[in-house]
Amino acid sequence: MKTPARGSLLSIEHLPTRDINAILKLARRMKPAHPQPLLRGKRVALLFYETSTRTRASFEVAAKSLGAITVLIQTSGSSIEKGESLLDTGYTLSAIGADVIVLRHPNSGAPNLLAQHLDIPVINAGDGMHEHPSQALLDAYTILRHKKKIAGLQVAIIGDIFHSRVARSNIHLLSKLGAKMTLCGPPELVPELATTLVPGLKLARHVEDAVRGADVVMLLRVQKERLAGLKLHAFDYIARYQMTPARLRLAKRDAILMHPGPAIRGMELEGDLADAPQSVIREEVRNGVPVRMAILARAVRKAR
Ligand code: NCD
Repeated sequence: MKTPARGSLLSIEHLPTRDINAILKLARRMKPAHPQPLLRGKRVALLFYETSTRTRASFEVAAKSLGAITVLIQTSGSSIEKGESLLDTGYTLSAIGADVIVLRHPNSGAPNLLAQHLDIPVINAGDGMHEHPSQALLDAYTILRHKKKIAGLQVAIIGDIFHSRVARSNIHLLSKLGAKMTLCGPPELVPELATTLVPGLKLARHVEDAVRGADVVMLLRVQKERLAGLKLHAFDYIARYQMTPARLRLAKRDAILMHPGPAIRGMELEGDLADAPQSVIREEVRNGVPVRMAILARAVRKAR
C-alpha cells in the first residue's frame, strides 16, 4: 500500500483548511470561457461506476477546457461488466498513461483504495455514503459568491442527511470554515447521531426551526423508494419538510436556496421554487466547472 499521490482529493474531512482555501482561490482564477492550457498533453480518466449528469459532465468540460484528453469508462460497455476489479481497471488506466483518475463508486472508500495502489492522483467524484468533496467545494464557492465569508453563517441542511455524501462533505467543509449548521429531517434520515459528525451541529425536527434566520438553506435529495423502505410516506415528508415559499420566507431576506441536484420538484421543494430568485441551484452546476478546473490543475501540478 502506498500513500495517495500528491494532488489526490479523497475527502474534505482530511483536507486541511489551507488546501480548501487554496482550491477556492485557484477556482476564482479559472476562466472557463478563456482557459489556460494548464493540462495540455495530460490524460484525465473519468471512471464512473454510478450514474451522474452534473459531476461527470463538469469534470469532462473542466479537463477539456484546460487542454487535457479525457477518457470515459462507465460500468456498461467496459470490462467492469465482465467482472474486472476496481484495482485492475485502475492499473489498466494507469498503463495507458492516465495522469489523473476521477472516480465515482457506490462503495465508500473506493477512491482511497485506488489511491493506495496507484502512483497517480485520484479524485473522489462521490463514493457511496462517504464523501463528495468536489461538490462541497463548488457549494462553498457558490456561497462565497453571495456572502462575504462563510464564518458565522447560519446554514440549514434539510433532507436525507444520513445517506448523503454531499451532506457529509458539506458539513466537514462548512464546519472547517466556521459556519453554524442545523440539520433537519425525519429521525430515520437524520438520526441524532448525525450531530456528532463535527462539534456544534444542531438538530431541528421542525423545518421552520431550521430555516428561521438562516443565510443558506441547503436541500438534499429524498428518494421515494428509500422512504418506502423505511415505511415513511412521501406525503408525510412533503407536509413536514418540503421547502415552500412560506417556509423559505422564515430565512433571512437575502438567504440563498441550494440543492446539489438532481432535485425532485414536488418532493424536496415545491415545484417552482427551484426557479425562484433565491435559488442558486443552476449556479451551483455552473460553478462546478471552474472548481473542477482548479481541482484538476492542482492535481497535475502537485503530482509532478
Ligand atoms: C449527488 C450525488 O450523486 O452524490 N449529486 C451530485 O453529484 N450533484 C446527490 C444525489 O445524488 O442526491
